[in-house]
Amino acid sequence: MAVRKFVERVEFAKGLEGAITNESSVGYVDGDRGDLVYRGYSIYDLAEHSTFEESSYLLLFGKLPTQKELDEFNKKLVGYRQIPGLTYDVLRLLPKTTHPMAAMRTAISSLGNADPDADKWDVEHYAEIGTKLIAQAPTVTAAIARLRKGLEPIAPDPNLSLAANLLYMLNGEKPDETTAKVLDVCLVLHQDHEQNASTFTCMVVESSQSDIYSVVTGGIGSLKGPLHGGANEQAITEIQNVRRLGGVAKVPEYVKDAQSKGKRFMGFGHRVYKAYDPRARILKKYADQLSSTPEDRELFDIAVAIEKQLEPYQERGIFPNVDFYSGIVYHSMGIERDMFTPLFVVGRMPGWVARVMEYLPENRLFRPRAIYIGEFDRQYMPIDQRK
Ligand code: SDX
Repeated sequence: MAVRKFVERVEFAKGLEGAITNESSVGYVDGDRGDLVYRGYSIYDLAEHSTFEESSYLLLFGKLPTQKELDEFNKKLVGYRQIPGLTYDVLRLLPKTTHPMAAMRTAISSLGNADPDADKWDVEHYAEIGTKLIAQAPTVTAAIARLRKGLEPIAPDPNLSLAANLLYMLNGEKPDETTAKVLDVCLVLHQDHEQNASTFTCMVVESSQSDIYSVVTGGIGSLKGPLHGGANEQAITEIQNVRRLGGVAKVPEYVKDAQSKGKRFMGFGHRVYKAYDPRARILKKYADQLSSTPEDRELFDIAVAIEKQLEPYQERGIFPNVDFYSGIVYHSMGIERDMFTPLFVVGRMPGWVARVMEYLPENRLFRPRAIYIGEFDRQYMPIDQRK
């Protein structure tokens, strides 16, 4: 029986480039102007005036909180910071060589195994558990960083902001105000970015009415890749390689060699931005401010030299993106390179939660099709007659 041929050749975009999947008021990326808004507020204003906690509230609930609302939200976040013993046990069982993003994927998923409400599929539970995940992601991140070095995890400090507490749990010292503020800004810059690959992954998982732990575990899996969140670790690796090769003077040779090999420059280019990524603009400023040691200063100078060398790419809409300077900022805070993408998870958690909360009430299972270009009507051959 001939299979009905899927004959209508529809316009299709590989990788859903330019495809529209839903309406949203959570956030908007203006790719031509190089602008970004969360719920209508410019990222420049939020980076300068807001905090990670306040912007998380904005993304989840659609408005800037009153002081009372913010205090209540923050009290909830602080109360949720601790993670179950099960998750520490799971992390202790992982090989010490496990990449922190693979550990993050496993640990965040294990939080669901300890939550009796994990499978509740409704906006209220998504909001409550999502708030818990926003609070617990820093604790998981710090536990991963310490356990793999044979160090005991440090319990969260309820008197510190989320960003300051993350730095405290990472290295056991309360950070100075400037460092805590800069990390807070970094996390705000990473909170939401419309339908990027990891956020879309979260929405696809949610759309089958799955649980929010599966949602964010899927998001972590997507963010791990070097074309997406993993680019921040790759970008600083390349900058450090140039430093080893001889520093700024070696940048032209490095760029030429990469071009000859058709290599992608990590931290450059973007599916939507065809202008300078506003987040890169803000991060470059902080990277410059924080690069005080000779090594950090040299890394920053190399990054600026690479950006300059790649200026011709701007004619093709290829500019630095969020991942190019973020690594220099994190490096200046003493954070290890392979912990940079877990920090991206901490930052992006509110955006993931906000967008699946928004999509859930008018949920529609994501189920695209492919244009079948294979054969039809092939005759089944017994195995002893096959060649
Ligand atoms: C993030 O989507 C989001 O919003 C993501 C993100 C978020 O906040 O969630 O912003 C975070 O993931 C930022 C991007 C981080 N990734 C990288 O920095 C990896 C390096 N960049 C690329 O691989 C690339 O730019 C992508 C994947 C980010 C976007 O690529 P596209 O839209 O699929 O573009 P493409 O691969 O079709 O490239 C178009 C042309 C190609 O040239 P031709 O083959 O047509 O001659 O541009 C070239 C590419 O070779 N190109 C690059 C390049 N990026 C694109 N050439 C060199 N270096 C690059 N980085």
